[in-house]
Amino acid sequence: MSEFEGKVVIITGAGGGLGRSHALQFASRGAKVVVNDLGGRVDGSGQGDAADQVVAEIRAKGGTAIANRDSVASKEGAKAIVGAAVAEFGTVDILVNNAGNLRDKSFKNMTPEDYDAVLDVHLRGSGYVTHAAWPIMLAKNWGRIVLTSSTSGIFGNFGQANYGAAKMGMWGLMNVLAIEGVSKNVKVNCLSPGAATRMTASVPGATFDPDAPPPDRGPDLVTPAVLYMCSENAPTGYVIQAAGGRFSRTQIFANEGVTLPWQEATYENLVANIDKVVDMSQAVGRNPTERPARR
Ligand code: NAI
Repeated sequence: MSEFEGKVVIITGAGGGLGRSHALQFASRGAKVVVNDLGGRVDGSGQGDAADQVVAEIRAKGGTAIANRDSVASKEGAKAIVGAAVAEFGTVDILVNNAGNLRDKSFKNMTPEDYDAVLDVHLRGSGYVTHAAWPIMLAKNWGRIVLTSSTSGIFGNFGQANYGAAKMGMWGLMNVLAIEGVSKNVKVNCLSPGAATRMTASVPGATFDPDAPPPDRGPDLVTPAVLYMCSENAPTGYVIQAAGGRFSRTQIFANEGVTLPWQEATYENLVANIDKVVDMSQAVGRNPTERPARR
């Protein structure tokens, strides 16, 4: 029997791409899945029945799932997504915040509306849905939450100021929730995925068909990392990269720097010590729930 048998799992934006793959793989392991998706276009506009189609696919394979078409970007929608899980299955054990949109433009050409539209879905939406599920998980002393980040935020990418800000925001949200949830066995991690989906098909230069992704770049190759981050032995406060069969961890490192006597903490003395201030050769990895190792 799979450890996911009977677990109630919400996956936002699961009407296609990565979310669909997560939903199928949880369902095939006996989880009860809420497939949320607004069903709109890549920029987040419009609506459709994408969630219902994935539910039909899961049920045809003998799995258990319900569809939900609310937007994660509205506070009421977020509550309704979690409410649907509770009404149908009695609780929520696992939440995978996956829903996302894109409004790529160089910052010079990006309107404040483009900026907000992307922050609303990724950053606010993930926060809203997580906020609705959080008290349920704390009360039962068990919960697993995945936030979907991106190398576009972690390392930067031209034309994605809105998306990069939102995706790095996932990391900050994770850090704090990992600390607040650890004593209640609520574990929070970030996924940084890479896969051929309709979202990456919309990036200039992409040549693949998102409905038939190349097998070595399929969303199904990312999902094992999500299952791991939702497992009994999940870590907390980790960022896991997953793409095309490569799995790795990304972490924040900090150095010791220089401590000047406060009377000498001037610009001139900072510049005199700048090599030591910025030297990362002895830097130590930090995790939100662990104290940094002392050398
Ligand atoms: P996708 O476009 O196939 O999936 C995103 C889904 O979110 C869509 O089905 C869409 O309808 C849904 N959605 C959008 N706005 C919504 C809202 N307000 N409420 C509910 N659902 C909404 O794209 P993909 O690639 O599967 O993306 C999934 C996640 O992975 C996104 O968060 C994306 O930013 C992230 N990601 C994907 C990468 C990739 O290589 N495909 C790379 C890095 C991050």
